[in-house]
Amino acid sequence: MTTSPPTAVFIGVGSWGRNVIRAFGRCGVQPAGFLVAGSGSTRSWLSQHFPGAPVASDLYDLLSLPASMAVVTSPRDTHATYAAAALTANMHVWVEKPPATTAFAAGALAGLAAERRRYLHTAFTYLFHPAFDQLITQLRQDDLAVVRFDWRRPNAPTPVAWELLPHELALAIRLTGWIPSDVVIEGDSTCLRCHWQVDGGPTVEVEIDGCTGPKEKRLQVQTRDGTTWSWTDNTLYRPHRNGPVRQDFSRTDPLWKEAQCFVTNGIEGRWSAHESRMAVAIVDLIERALAATKSRTGAPGVTPD
Ligand SMILES: NC(=O)c1ccc[n+]([C@@H]2O[C@H](COP(=O)([O-])OP(=O)(O)OC[C@H]3O[C@@H](n4cnc5c(N)ncnc54)[C@H](OP(=O)(O)O)[C@@H]3O)[C@@H](O)[C@H]2O)c1
Repeated sequence: MTTSPPTAVFIGVGSWGRNVIRAFGRCGVQPAGFLVAGSGSTRSWLSQHFPGAPVASDLYDLLSLPASMAVVTSPRDTHATYAAAALTANMHVWVEKPPATTAFAAGALAGLAAERRRYLHTAFTYLFHPAFDQLITQLRQDDLAVVRFDWRRPNAPTPVAWELLPHELALAIRLTGWIPSDVVIEGDSTCLRCHWQVDGGPTVEVEIDGCTGPKEKRLQVQTRDGTTWSWTDNTLYRPHRNGPVRQDFSRTDPLWKEAQCFVTNGIEGRWSAHESRMAVAIVDLIERALAATKSRTGAPGVTPD
């Protein structure tokens, strides 16, 4: 018996969205159609790579196409609306982080997914990095002393609190096994520091610099016995008595692994309350921390652009 390949509609085909479309292609997913803002360069990219595939200008035309999944990689402020519409059309939904910029809207999405029994996945792609897999399997949560993130990303999309910080929060929550009740965010829309203390556990520090180069993303973990693990871009340095041991990983594997996980969970009809809970918590933490920073300093720069 042959089964037809899974199909998806893609909302957003920008610089990141094209990577996501390629990753789904590697998983055998056929595009049923696309929704874009309508730039000429995107239309010509689509006609070159997917000749004949429908390119809709209307969301409801797109959602009436035969597809079981919707992949939302349009700009941040459109995520919640598109994800909700696709869930309502009974599709499994992949939505880029953040799924929404209010806890209310993120919670409503999670509720809709549960009600429809659809799989709602927020793309925290770094959780699927094989270097992170190693950290998770090699380190015990109660051995962690300091968890420190440093991300330099010149010309980062702003505000970095919504564009980049969700990734670090997801990694820290998964690594420490703990969702903080509050975090502190200091800074402005391009550079920030975020920190919190895990109850009876490590301090977590995040620094994001969206201006200065060179580009580098690093996570350092110190354990209680003083050893340091360091994950920089696609390289993991594990401690060893003769000095750190280096291990390099592929840049494209995390996104492919993430797409595979989404497709499998969608096909098997799984939905995960645990996953939704983390995504909602991340939105809630950022929303409340930004509001607290604003009332403390009156700094308008940390609120969404
Ligand atoms: N998970 C990750 O690691 C990761 C990494 C990078 C980015 N992202 C996220 O991915 C998303 C897209 O980023 P990007 O860099 O690809 O952005 P981008 O290059 O600006 O692309 C945005 C895409 O959305 C389309 N679009 C714009 N407004 C729209 C609307 N109202 N309705 C439907 N489509 C619309 C654009 O259409 P046209 O092409 O016609 O203009 C374009 O195809 C962002 O939310 C970003 O935060 C995630």
